[in-house]
Amino acid sequence: MIIPTILEEKLSGALKSVLGDSLPSEFRASVTPSADLRFGDYQSNAAMVLAKQCRTNPRALAQQVVEQMGDCDVCTLEIAGPGFINFRIRPEFFAARLSSMLADARLGVEAITEPKTIVIDFSAPNVAKQMHVGHIRSTIIGDTLARVARFVGHNVITDNHIGDWGTQFGMILWGWKNILDHSALEQDPIEELLRVYKEVNARCKETPELLDTCKVELVKLQSGDVENLGIWERCVEVSKTGLKKIYKQLDIHFDYWLGESFYNDDLGPLVDGMLASGMAQESDGAICVFSDGSVPPQDDPFLVQEKGEWKAMPCIIRKADGGFLYATTDLATLDYRIKNWQADSIWYVVGAPQAQHFRQIFATQRRRGMDGDYRHIAFGSILGEDRKPFKTRSGESVSLQDVLTEAIERATRVVEEKSPDMDADEKKKVAEIVGIGAVKFAELSQNRMTDYVFNWDKMLALQGDTAPYLQNSYVRVRSIFRKLENEQHDWSAPLTLTEDAEIHLSRLLARYGEVVPAVLDDCRPNILAAYLFDLAKAFHSFYEACPVLKSEGDVRYTRLALCELCARTLKHGLGLLGIQLPDRM
Ligand code: ARG
Repeated sequence: MIIPTILEEKLSGALKSVLGDSLPSEFRASVTPSADLRFGDYQSNAAMVLAKQCRTNPRALAQQVVEQMGDCDVCTLEIAGPGFINFRIRPEFFAARLSSMLADARLGVEAITEPKTIVIDFSAPNVAKQMHVGHIRSTIIGDTLARVARFVGHNVITDNHIGDWGTQFGMILWGWKNILDHSALEQDPIEELLRVYKEVNARCKETPELLDTCKVELVKLQSGDVENLGIWERCVEVSKTGLKKIYKQLDIHFDYWLGESFYNDDLGPLVDGMLASGMAQESDGAICVFSDGSVPPQDDPFLVQEKGEWKAMPCIIRKADGGFLYATTDLATLDYRIKNWQADSIWYVVGAPQAQHFRQIFATQRRRGMDGDYRHIAFGSILGEDRKPFKTRSGESVSLQDVLTEAIERATRVVEEKSPDMDADEKKKVAEIVGIGAVKFAELSQNRMTDYVFNWDKMLALQGDTAPYLQNSYVRVRSIFRKLENEQHDWSAPLTLTEDAEIHLSRLLARYGEVVPAVLDDCRPNILAAYLFDLAKAFHSFYEACPVLKSEGDVRYTRLALCELCARTLKHGLGLLGIQLPDRM
């Protein structure tokens, strides 16, 4: 049981004894970490909340509760301010916790008792279109959420819902037939398809007739023309090969790649069914889902406010020309995930601009009788140094591949400066681990809803909340053990904590089991990133204040155990963020 839960149980027991029948039966005492360590490790406002309900004096109630809890083996208690109860964990209790963590591969993170089947939809770039920075954020955040959810015990299915059936294929088909450079395609398929798409796009702007020619190609594709289907298939295939290279470099894996085209055959029947049941209506030839008036206008995803008036903002599921839309595919995708995978919960890691789209499809799905836990896990933008959307020098969208290549290049310089004597092969490996780690950590340490400035120097700095700082901390801990190669420990002997720096490091280590599940409360990896940064800082302070190898006996043993557990926790936590660790740096 994690420490706050232990304290909540003890506190609830004491409140029951003190208040007897006047304790409201539904009351759950909550205990939270103290923001300021002067007020202990944890605190609770339960006495204040209850005193109000029972019309008694909060401090007096807190006093009675503290007396009732008496001599507790977990913590000492104090009352503060108007009736807060502060809990200070005893060093012996931390010591026992750490010992059990040392014997536990899960490092105190409990497996949940009710696992759910969670489908996570993330990354999802569009074939031959620019991969925008939104895809970078989605890819990194989605992967971490999948790792954490899996580790706490959920049945997680990751699905890369790539955009492989858009109107862009009209231009690509014409481009493929007329301006494709086959050898460039071999070399870098994503790059070449993108070049073709951009080039045709530009030509269409100059010669609008070309647009019609491209549309003809698209219609041919949609009606099953063999040649065009063949080209489309190759486009998707080479793009996937290119994407897989990037995901491999990022150490990211998908269970499925069911792109938009996978649902093509389901779209017609889906729309017909919705028309027949009256859930969708015709409007100017298009088929739409309108507001059903079941919620107040401000909560209604099918209404928008314009000049102070509420106007219909339907979800279009078939255009007047018979074409289907992004929303139609997403409804069919929901059906598939619910029926075939028995999904309890479906998470979409997609940028904030698509909020309205997801509100509409979730509401539509509920109306279709399939209620479920659907979540849009939104995020803000990445900005350039000028605080405008992050672009390359020539003003184009930044590709994920370019970001990774540059990160590794820059990390090579960092490694060269730090360890000039390292051999070339190792340097290369370490630079990859550091560079990719830096990009991931810069993303994951942000609150996902805020926009953040992409800054190479900051993310690769050896100081501050960066991957290199954390990786370097790990390497430092490990280097202690390299000096002790012929010493073996099974860490089963008890620990003795006395120094403040030891106790502070223990406090953080013992919290790992609280922090990891908390990431999923609101899908916020930055909670774990911030924790790991605090842990690394606590390790450095401890290492400065408390000699390890020069100490003796129990003290030395305890300090070594702290180092060991710190290394394991850093490695595990960074692993959940998808960040690897070098042996040396
Ligand atoms: N391909 C879409 C885009 O680039 C993202 C897809 C997200 N997933 C979904 N099921 N809609 O904007």
